[in-house]
Amino acid sequence: MIILGIETSCDETSVGIIEKSGEHLKLLTNVVATSLAIHSKNGGIIPELAAREQVKFILPVLQQALNEAFEQKFTDLNSPPPPVDAIAVTYGPGLIGSLLVGVETAKTLSYLWQIPLIRINHMYGHIYANWLNQDGKLPQTENLPALILVVSGGHTDLLIMREHGDMKVIGGTRDDAAGEAFDKIARLLGLPYPGGPAISKAALKGNSDFIHFPRPLIGQDNLDFSFSGLKTAVYREVQKYKQKNEILSSQLVNDLAACAQAAIIDVLVKKTIKAVEKYNVKSLLLSGGVAANDLLRKTFIEEINKCALQTDFFVPQKTLCTDNGAMIAAAAAFNYKATPWQEITADPQLYY
Ligand code: KG4
Ligand code: ZN
Repeated sequence: MIILGIETSCDETSVGIIEKSGEHLKLLTNVVATSLAIHSKNGGIIPELAAREQVKFILPVLQQALNEAFEQKFTDLNSPPPPVDAIAVTYGPGLIGSLLVGVETAKTLSYLWQIPLIRINHMYGHIYANWLNQDGKLPQTENLPALILVVSGGHTDLLIMREHGDMKVIGGTRDDAAGEAFDKIARLLGLPYPGGPAISKAALKGNSDFIHFPRPLIGQDNLDFSFSGLKTAVYREVQKYKQKNEILSSQLVNDLAACAQAAIIDVLVKKTIKAVEKYNVKSLLLSGGVAANDLLRKTFIEEINKCALQTDFFVPQKTLCTDNGAMIAAAAAFNYKATPWQEITADPQLYY
């Protein structure tokens, strides 16, 4: 079965095409266009601008994905129609204008090609990016139940997945998400958007022992997270220099970036390992944009070994951690439930 996935929940416009045989997913193509250059200058996403760019991108991205996957030119979308069996689309959560671009395109294609349409929760997409690894190990049904940490721009969630589509939230953030913390702290340090990659790059040249930032809720007997206090601590530190009219030197920025990153990772890893121990799961799956962070990936592997946990660890390839269409198609492959296009609408506030 060949599934085409469309993702437009935030600033990316992406179409991915996968082929499912048994439990195995083959990635045929994954085209991603982004309006990041515009948002980078503004220090964050301006929803109206993101949606306008997506309107421009969606058809060229679709055409490129079809041409790449099937190695032929689809200049006319219907003569003959491409060999796609189903369409999957993100219908929430996300920015309303952005979601509508993907949802309306998917509905049109389903109507035009007369093929099933599967609506997908964006967060499920991030989780199922784990099933798309082309070069690493893949989770199998026998790896369930799994504990999942979703760390993205809007979410920091701990879930238990008992079987495909059966997710239960067991913990989450009380305020800012981990990605949001990276983005806001980067802004305080004068680093560009998105903050995660910028902070991890600066941190490579920084000293993570320069200052000890707070690790909120780390020792508490719950599975909650909180990152707004950390952001305030970084703000206060930056203010100390600004009040003395001192410019933040690049070394100071690198040091503060390294310390902030260390604090975020420490909390994420400690609390997640605690959840793994509590819930006797067979595997741990990492997902979401923040999962692309090298130090986070490395720390998880070290900590799992240190605690001698008998838990398989999975994390998507870095390029599949951030928003993309293939992960939406992957989620549909394991949660195949068609909905008539007339009944599908965008849901910006969608939860699990
Ligand atoms: O999952 P995603 O692409 O979009 C959402 O659904 O939110 O995640 C975007 C978030 C941003 O906050 C970005 O700063 C963060 O992921 N991110 C990273 C890294 N790459 C992206 N955070 C830390 N380290 C990275 N390498
Ligand atoms: Zn996302």
